[in-house]
Amino acid sequence: MNDFLKISGLCAQIDDNGTPKEILRGLDLEVPKGQIHAIMGPNGSGKSTLSYVLAGREDYEVTGGSAEFLGEDLLALEPEERAALGVFLAFQAPIELPGVNNANFLRTAVNAVRRARKEEELDAVGFLKAVRAETKHLHMSDDMLKRNVNVGFSGGEKKRNEVLQMRMLRPKFAILDETDSGLDIDALRIVAEGVNSLRGSDFSALIITHHQRLLDYIKPDRVHVMAKGKIIHSGGGEVALALEAQGYQQYLEAVA
Ligand SMILES: Nc1ncnc2c1ncn2[C@@H]1O[C@H](COP(=O)(O)OP(=O)(O)OP(=O)(O)O)[C@@H](O)[C@H]1O
Ligand SMILES: [Mg+2]
Repeated sequence: MNDFLKISGLCAQIDDNGTPKEILRGLDLEVPKGQIHAIMGPNGSGKSTLSYVLAGREDYEVTGGSAEFLGEDLLALEPEERAALGVFLAFQAPIELPGVNNANFLRTAVNAVRRARKEEELDAVGFLKAVRAETKHLHMSDDMLKRNVNVGFSGGEKKRNEVLQMRMLRPKFAILDETDSGLDIDALRIVAEGVNSLRGSDFSALIITHHQRLLDYIKPDRVHVMAKGKIIHSGGGEVALALEAQGYQQYLEAVA
């Protein structure tokens, strides 16, 4: 039995100028411990909405179904409690935080998670040492740490910064929402490597992507096709190849 992440019949809506708009319509998904899964799906199918709902963004109202993570009712927890449990979301559009220093922001986040895990907090020196090892690994300039969070970062720099956060926070479960978009070929490899290097029995991930190429590097355990607020098909790496070759129509027809 999977007692890591189990989502059943999840329904969620958003307020669209006073009218509720249903986006997730009975979504079922299981990610076992230690596995990396991918979600592909047409624009507007609800992939980012799923990631926001799992991370606890408040604009979305869950109207049905459940999401259990490590035996806990994930949806009942505050966003910071979810983070403390080990859930991490890399945003499709990383938020800019003017006036907030990137290194301070990261250290605060890392220490909050360490406190929750009853680990010793990192002091300034320990943090810098740890973060410099990661920026080097990700081929990021240390200059990015001195700047305000994401302010003036290029598209690719923002995505690398998300991977930096992920590697520093060491989540149990990471959701990467199109972290590959806007990356040049070398950066794509670095991001994939960032994910692969965390692979292990204590790390699972959900990779949302439009590009089969990323999955060539990451080699997910399963690939799910999402459309109209549901998972409509699941399979192995061959699903991504079939999508690349033939598009979504074959799957959409099967559920029409
Ligand atoms: N605040 C909002 N108000 C109105 N509609 C919204 C809002 N947020 C999301 N939606 C709608 O919900 C649907 C799903 O959006 P979502 O961002 O989850 O799609 P997606 O699968 O991530 O798409 P993409 O591949 O383009 O990133 C879209 O039709 C979108 O316009
Ligand atoms: Mg999206």
